[in-house]
Amino acid sequence: MQRVIIFFLILFVSLNAQNKIVINADLGKYKIDKNIYGHFSEHLGRCIYDGFYVGETNKIIPNTRGIRNDIVKALRKMKVPVLRWPGGCFADTYHWKDGIGPRSERPTIVNTWWGGVTEDNSFGTHEFMDLCEQLGAEPYISGNVGSGTVREMAEWVQYTNFDGRSPMSDLRRKNGREKPWNVKYWGIGNETWGCGGHMRPEYYADIYRAFATYLPGNSNVKLFRIASGAAGDDYNWTEILLKNIPLNLIEGIGVHHYAVIDWNAKGSATDFTEEQYFKTMQQALRMEKIVKGHINIMDKYDPQNRVALAVDEWGGWYDVEPGTNPGFLYQQNTMRDALLAGATLNIFNNYCRRVKMANLAQTVNVLQAVILTKEEKIILTPTYYVMEMYNVHHDATMLPVDVTSEKYTVDGKALDAISCSASKDENGKIHISLVNIDINKKHNIEIDLRGTEVSNCTGRILTSEKVQDHNTFENPEKIKPAAFKGFKLNGNKLQIELPATSVVVLELE
Ligand code: AHR
Repeated sequence: MQRVIIFFLILFVSLNAQNKIVINADLGKYKIDKNIYGHFSEHLGRCIYDGFYVGETNKIIPNTRGIRNDIVKALRKMKVPVLRWPGGCFADTYHWKDGIGPRSERPTIVNTWWGGVTEDNSFGTHEFMDLCEQLGAEPYISGNVGSGTVREMAEWVQYTNFDGRSPMSDLRRKNGREKPWNVKYWGIGNETWGCGGHMRPEYYADIYRAFATYLPGNSNVKLFRIASGAAGDDYNWTEILLKNIPLNLIEGIGVHHYAVIDWNAKGSATDFTEEQYFKTMQQALRMEKIVKGHINIMDKYDPQNRVALAVDEWGGWYDVEPGTNPGFLYQQNTMRDALLAGATLNIFNNYCRRVKMANLAQTVNVLQAVILTKEEKIILTPTYYVMEMYNVHHDATMLPVDVTSEKYTVDGKALDAISCSASKDENGKIHISLVNIDINKKHNIEIDLRGTEVSNCTGRILTSEKVQDHNTFENPEKIKPAAFKGFKLNGNKLQIELPATSVVVLELE
């Protein structure tokens, strides 16, 4: 009898289950800061060397002053608004003066965090700024707090930003750069609770105050100082920092969250089970709870919404590819990563009132990279295409969405199958990004668009048969966006048939 009741209960639920989304096109209030689509480049493995930078003496790989032309071209198309550098953990071992002046005279150091390799400092401040200029991206420099000094960081700011005569701006000119770069974004340490010094929040709050006090802004640029933020849901970290740092000394506070199944058994990037996939998505979707938790604390200490939340490291983290250096964090990138990226970016869009920056870790050849390189070849990963499809949200007005989703269930555990965000750009076009994380089933969705009239809809889709599918150097275009036709527009109602394992972006006019 009990079994019969359960059967009818499941039948009833599935017959009534429906995916419904209400979008209020006239209630947009907050801008989706394009810096939510930021990236991260650390001196780690093959991200900088053999990734972005091959050196200007390289005659095989086309480059401009040592920076790969193919990477710049691809990233300009994808649009990188802001790029974080030089770390990560590396940042708190980095002394910037080692990376300026004639390359042949730059000292070497050992990269103690990542593989113990020798760093020759041939990529330093000038090269990074050149990269940002080639990309059209804002630089975000992460300063050394763990093993550096207030003076060292203050001098770095003077070196990059001071126009008049001063010891550091004169040194910059001597090294070939007349005009300052006016770097706005400065991170004051990285993971200071861990690799950045194993500090207690009370201690770091005091250290932060000292650093922030002596970083010189000037009439060309008001600095945007970002405090090293919490690990995931460590809300106490944010609470102590905001309780102790006066609001006139802080413009942003970070938080890092990686989607990791188990730090001791991360699993393969390509050869994974549905159960592992589900666990990765569980971890990825925790981002919403994490962001909400930090925002609640920020609202308490900063009710005027002045300080930004910067998720300055996020992404999927798996075992390295077999046969590669474990310290180099080189991993492939599948449709799992595309779904993870799409769903996470939807969260950032929806919380854009406070989340004003995020930096995917990392751009090239490290963790959830958007580009992988092999000698003169590059491949664009599924994550690249999600970032490129979503760039229509840059600086657009976020439209609140109300999502009722059916569940994607594995081993009795359930997640919402559908994730969504929407925005209206300056030309009045509405963009809706949808993710179906269910890898077994297409989902029909009814979208009710309120507060606007639309007459035309177009769309793009990223999908593949299996969630493990990925691009390889042999088959680089297995996964790429295609036109999406699976919708019917009837007045202000949109009926969508969203295939399993897919990311879709719709444009409505
Ligand atoms: O992105 C890799 C590492 O992860 C960074 O160096 C560090 O900040 C984080 O723990």
